[in-house]
Order: sequence, then C-alpha cells, then structure tokens
Amino acid sequence: MESKIIQLISLSLQVDKSMINLETGPENFPAWDSIAMLDIITNFENEFDLTLDLEDILSIEKVEDLLHLVTKNTKSSDLELDLGLSGLIKPATIIRGTNSFGELANHIEGETVVILGSKTYSSGFRNKIEDLFKYKIHDILFLNKPSGEPTELHIDELTSKIESTPRNIVGIGGGSVIDTCKLVRTKLNHPKVPLKNWIPRFSLPKEAGEIKLISIPTTHGSGAETSSAAVFNTKKSGKKVILSHDFVSNIVVYDSLFTVGLPKSIAIDTTIDSITHAIEGYISKINMDKTDKHVFESLKTIIRVLDSDIEIKKSESQQELLFASFLSGIVQNHCSVGLTHSISHQLSRYGIPHGRLNAIFLVDVLKYNYSREKSKLDILAENLGYDNGSLLIQWLEEIIRVYEIGSISDYIDNFSSIKFEELIKDIKSDITYTTTPFDISDDELLKILNT
Ligand SMILES: [Fe+2]
Repeated sequence: MESKIIQLISLSLQVDKSMINLETGPENFPAWDSIAMLDIITNFENEFDLTLDLEDILSIEKVEDLLHLVTKNTKSSDLELDLGLSGLIKPATIIRGTNSFGELANHIEGETVVILGSKTYSSGFRNKIEDLFKYKIHDILFLNKPSGEPTELHIDELTSKIESTPRNIVGIGGGSVIDTCKLVRTKLNHPKVPLKNWIPRFSLPKEAGEIKLISIPTTHGSGAETSSAAVFNTKKSGKKVILSHDFVSNIVVYDSLFTVGLPKSIAIDTTIDSITHAIEGYISKINMDKTDKHVFESLKTIIRVLDSDIEIKKSESQQELLFASFLSGIVQNHCSVGLTHSISHQLSRYGIPHGRLNAIFLVDVLKYNYSREKSKLDILAENLGYDNGSLLIQWLEEIIRVYEIGSISDYIDNFSSIKFEELIKDIKSDITYTTTPFDISDDELLKILNT
C-alpha cells in the first residue's frame, strides 16, 4: 500500500520515487503545489476507487495522511484483493474506520445479547449500542462479564440469564470478553455438556450458524476476534483451550471510538501482544508464505504508530493499531505463536496481564532464537526497513525501555524462589511450545525467566 502511494505521488510530481517518503508534503516539497495536489487527489481517488470529502482533502499534509485515508475508507472486500485474505480463515464481514460502527445496524437483526466487560468501564459502550439499535432491535439483553478470564461457573451464570436462543451475541471488550461470547454460544448450543468435554482439539461439532458472533474489540491486540481458540480457567488444571474455526467472529467492528480512553498500560500491553503474534507467527514452525504480507503490514503499521505517537492517544493511531491487530491476529490463527506465549500463558496464574508478560519476555526469547538461526529474523527485519534482525530486536528493547516494562521480579515477589522445575515443565507442555522455532534447554530457559 505504502509503495503504491509513493509511486502514485512520484508520477504526479514527476520525480523519482526515491525522493518521496511518508513525511513528504507541500510544506517541504516545492513541486507539490496546489495544481499538483489536484492531480494527486484525482489519481489517488481513481487508484483506490474512493471519493474524498472536503474534510479528507484538508487533512492531507503529507504522504502518510494519504495512507490513513486508504485505511479509513477501504471496505473489507477491497482488503481481500489487497492483502490476499481469500483462502484464509477470517471474519465474513469487517467494518472498520473511526465512527464506522453504525454500519453494524445493516448486518444485524433479531434477538441480541450484548456481553460487556466491567460495568464502570463499559457503560459508555452500552449507550452507543442502545442508540444504534433503538429502532432496529427491541429485544436486546446486556450482560456484564465477571472480571478475569472466563470460568465454567461464569459461563453458566451468564447463560442462565438468557431466556431464549438469540440470533446474535455481541462482545464489546478485550480478549476475555470475546472468548466469553464464544463459550456462551457453545453452552447455549450444548447446555448439558461441560466445557472441558470440548478440550480435545477441534472436537466441538460445527455450529449450525444460527447464532452470529459479533466482536467489537476495545484493545489493540488480543486477536481473539480472529482466533479459533477460546480460553477458560478451570479450578483443577488451570488455563484450558477449546478450538473451533467457528469461533472466528462472523462480524468484527474495528472502530477507534471503542478504544478512546483505553488506559495507556493496556494500550501498550495489547500492542506488544499484537507485535508478538506477528513476529512469533512469522518465525513459527508453521511456515506459511501466504501470511507474510500480513506480518509485514502489521509490524510496519505498529512501528510507524509507536515511533510517531508514543502516548497512543490519537484516534488515527488507535484506528491503525486496531487494523494491525486484525492482521497479526490472522497470522496467529494460521501459524500459531512460540515460546514468549508459552511463558506468558503459564505465568498468567500470577494475575499479570498477557500482553505485559509478552512484553517482559519477547526480547530475550528473540535473542535466543537469533542466536540459533539468523536468517528468518533477518529477512523479517529487512522487510521492515532494518538492516538485520539485531536492529529489529534493538527497536523492541527501546520500546520496552520507553514504556518502563521492567522485569518479572517487578511483578512477582520472591520470583527467584518459585518452583522452576514445575514451571519449566508447564511451559514446555504449553500448546504454543510445539510451534516455537527452536527447542530450548532447561538451563537456557531458566536464564530467560530470571533475566
Ligand atoms: Fe497473545
């Protein structure tokens, strides 16, 4: 996309494309005068089959703004052509763009259950949905998910409040809210079967498709809406996963109106989760060329946003990160992830957020992988504009430093005295360890855990 826009600008300005970058604009490039601007807008609209309104046109101050306009205006069918999504498991309908969620009213009818996170955080979301469906849907039930990752008890409690089978379940929240929706639908379809019976991989029968799953993510990175996995906690054996491709949402809304006010720590944690999905997916044992462009596009977007808006406060930044999260979520769902996630899953028992755990361990895991084999990370880095994998890792180290992520001992008291033997065994039994690119000795893993 970026190279296509640069090519288009270079043709309009009649200069070599090497002279154009994302910062180029009328202020710093004399040839980009008002006549050239008209030419650029006409060519841009023709190329991307868009009609810009006055507000869009006035927002163009540099090449990067044109990139935002494509992201804002591109429909999901165009995404398929541009990003090669056909043939991949993905939501049937993607609605995206700031203030785009109103389009959901065109895709939804009948009884609807809306599941939200905690009451205080999500009351604003509830109002938005009530306004949207005021004239369209009369039978709407709002439920708040109990805090933390879903348990069978939580799912039973929520399901018992639903009197008749709805046509839609809408999840508005982070990964655990969206997973709760998947599990509530499973329970509604199979009320007498305990969730643990569906743990054998892909054992859940194909859903009849009568209850649509609709997700409105409120963070930049869980990837739950594009994931075939639903995670829940069991008292006896900790975190468990049910796998079904029917868990990929039927409709997803990526709208930064739902990420406004996201606390900075959650914004950065979930963004680093998204980075980890893309990188660990790219270097995983599941080698899938078809998702490479999604890895590159996702990471380029995240790097550009974090380098220009360190606070992640602008709604354009959040909109771009939502889209990057969609792409890295697709990667995760097809290629799985690796050791960073294996560690993160097993240390979640200490109540530390998933993305924060990834942030703590990603750099050291990548350094280990790089010490075993350089070429794959080097290729990834080159595609992102770095000379080698080492420089990409350095960029990540800087991000971890800037956001003051710290080390695991900052989050768990007396971490060095825990039972590492057991923890290492659990990490190596985690489902994601099967796709990490290189096995690791217990001693090397211990070093990473204690860094
Ligand atoms: Fe993750």
